[in-house]
Amino acid sequence: MAPLEAIIWHDGQLRIIDQLLLPFKTVYIDIKSVQEGWDAIQKMQVRGAPAIAIVGCLSIAAELAKESSIFNDCTSLHTFVCDSLAHLITARPTAVNMKAEALRLTEYSCSLLTTSQSVTEMMNSILAWCENLLKMDLATNKTLGDWGMQKILQLSKKDGEDGFSLITICNTGSLATAGYGTALGVVRSLHAIKKLKGLYMLETRPYMQGSRLSAYEAVVEGWPNATLICDGAVGALLSSSQVDAAVVGADCVAANGDTANKIGTYQLAVLCAAHHVKFFVCAPTSSINLKLSSGAGIPIEHRPALEMTSVAGVPVAAPGIACWNPAFDVTPARLITGIITEYGVFTPEKLEEEISSRI
Ligand code: MRU
Repeated sequence: MAPLEAIIWHDGQLRIIDQLLLPFKTVYIDIKSVQEGWDAIQKMQVRGAPAIAIVGCLSIAAELAKESSIFNDCTSLHTFVCDSLAHLITARPTAVNMKAEALRLTEYSCSLLTTSQSVTEMMNSILAWCENLLKMDLATNKTLGDWGMQKILQLSKKDGEDGFSLITICNTGSLATAGYGTALGVVRSLHAIKKLKGLYMLETRPYMQGSRLSAYEAVVEGWPNATLICDGAVGALLSSSQVDAAVVGADCVAANGDTANKIGTYQLAVLCAAHHVKFFVCAPTSSINLKLSSGAGIPIEHRPALEMTSVAGVPVAAPGIACWNPAFDVTPARLITGIITEYGVFTPEKLEEEISSRI
């Protein structure tokens, strides 16, 4: 199996892997318009907060590259960009990265209204801005991964023991980002210096990002002792094995450190606390919303019952049963040991101070 490039942008054309079909089929689909971008995000053909934002913005770029001649002036181009962003942020409401990039791109487009000499110049600037997201995200992830790796190395080990065992949920790797990953980026950095002893992955019902996507990345990368566990096996695992730390991603981190992430993250955090296992959230600053004072303000997306009652189209539940299917939960800051960002690792108490002085 070859490493996967989830998002490909080349010569004004956007292609993404249809993650609904992984790991059994690798099919790339073209995204030619903002609406196609919205649909792919909403159906979870692309998922993971950073990847959602990148594909959302690049869907604007793809439509612009295709329809370059329809804008008569800079104002109509600016209106198109703002309307497209307003639409894109509705596709997956919990993942805050799309909103963060929407704010940045709106501001940038606004500034171009006064600085651009022509529509073509403004359009080229917007295309370059969107393209740059891929490079920036990759660089951010590598830095974040290395900070996390250094933090894990500081955890105490019994004499003579070498290497660290980690546990994670969902998929936060190459498939969820421009490449490298956030929590899986920490795993990657640890593996690069031969200090990864093992990685436990929760299968992550109902969408199976753990068993379909993280397990795929683990096999491709050859991570040692990469082991899939059922979501309900965390307590048994932590009570019987040596796991050094949990590393998880984030869809939105509030100013006080409360973190929304894939459903099941909260119970993983509770069980880590009960077994004295360190619990780290890995979040690029684009996943941090300092305007929210706590996790109570984070909107939680609910997914259709069908995603619970069937797996890959095969029914697995009694027909007629009611379902409660939130895609995310909020882990309170008190359960979080540290938040690993591209600027360093901060306790929830220090997060706001540290991040606000850097963005
Ligand atoms: O529903 P998903 O697959 O988009 O959920 C993804 C997660 O919860 C990830 O942990 C988060 O987006 C961070 S990805 C780097």
